[in-house]
Amino acid sequence: MLLAAAARQLRPHRTLLLPALRSPLKEEPAESFSDRADMLRACAADARVPAGISLFEKRRGVTTYTWQALLHFRGLYPAAEIYFLMGSDCLPGFGRWRRPDSILSSARLLVGRRKGFPAGPAGGYPAVFLKGVFPEVSSTGLRAALYRGDVPREVPPAAARIIKERGLYLGRLRERVLSRLGPGRAAHTLACARLACDIAASRGSDARAAAVAALVHDYAKELDPRRLEKICRSAGLGVPSLEETVRRAPQLLHSWVSAHLARAELGVEDPRVLRAAARHTLGHPSMSELDKTIFVADLAAPDRTFPGAARLRRLALRDLDAAAALGARMKTEWLRRSGRWIHPLGLETCLKLNS
Ligand SMILES: [Fe+2]
Ligand SMILES: [Fe+2]
Repeated sequence: MLLAAAARQLRPHRTLLLPALRSPLKEEPAESFSDRADMLRACAADARVPAGISLFEKRRGVTTYTWQALLHFRGLYPAAEIYFLMGSDCLPGFGRWRRPDSILSSARLLVGRRKGFPAGPAGGYPAVFLKGVFPEVSSTGLRAALYRGDVPREVPPAAARIIKERGLYLGRLRERVLSRLGPGRAAHTLACARLACDIAASRGSDARAAAVAALVHDYAKELDPRRLEKICRSAGLGVPSLEETVRRAPQLLHSWVSAHLARAELGVEDPRVLRAAARHTLGHPSMSELDKTIFVADLAAPDRTFPGAARLRRLALRDLDAAAALGARMKTEWLRRSGRWIHPLGLETCLKLNS
């Protein structure tokens, strides 16, 4: 671990960890500042590094750039030798950070080499390198694994305990959804969430949104058709061809009702996520990347065993558009072969994706 190696090598008088209120380069963190601070504290304790947690960013209450934090500490400790620790995976982008010169006049960069990233300073910026090479772990990769429901071995046990106890990284949502589903549907939901996260991670898109949409996509699947119909009507869910759907394939209504209940009962507010859940069965002629991710993940989840499912799964991780087009074709052809009704929206999706 970078922190432990830096503490061993430098033997600093004081170590401060700086949880970000929010990162200027990333989306709003879903876990609270205090949960993240507690996990960081637990990681430091696990590595036996006596470290304090800085509440500087929290107190400021606004997005803070590194140069601002370091200027603050330079002001607090004018005579100190200050090091700012980072992995070499951050070096290539360092020149794009706000005011790198100010950062370097407040502190020295202390860099741990990560496999596959530059071994020397990038862009001519001076840096002190720690001895050794550190595993390639990215916070984005760790979070994606946690959203999938895995706890990677890089997460120290004390932090893993906090994650489990507090239901962080969607643990609580996962539990609430699964408690409402039978074992088969629960297994499918988890399988779908894993594939959705993998698809999102393969494209560098939002793994959390993919995981949430996949977790709730079949939330209403086990409600009986009459109840589905009632909810669609009373909540005015705007299901296209509602009367015909009620008559010929009422189970299709679960997509809209799942999205509706995800909002009403589970507190999912993100409209992109709710739309992806609502579109998971029939798709839509103008699907977003997240819509396609859930459409394909539902169809090709590892628990699906129809001929071609494994091929579709592999394709999804390489070419999502092609997988969505193939998936829509497979669905439509299966309905036609088995003499079932094809919903006009499903047909429209298939034609659009394959045009
Ligand atoms: Fe479904
Ligand atoms: Fe499903």
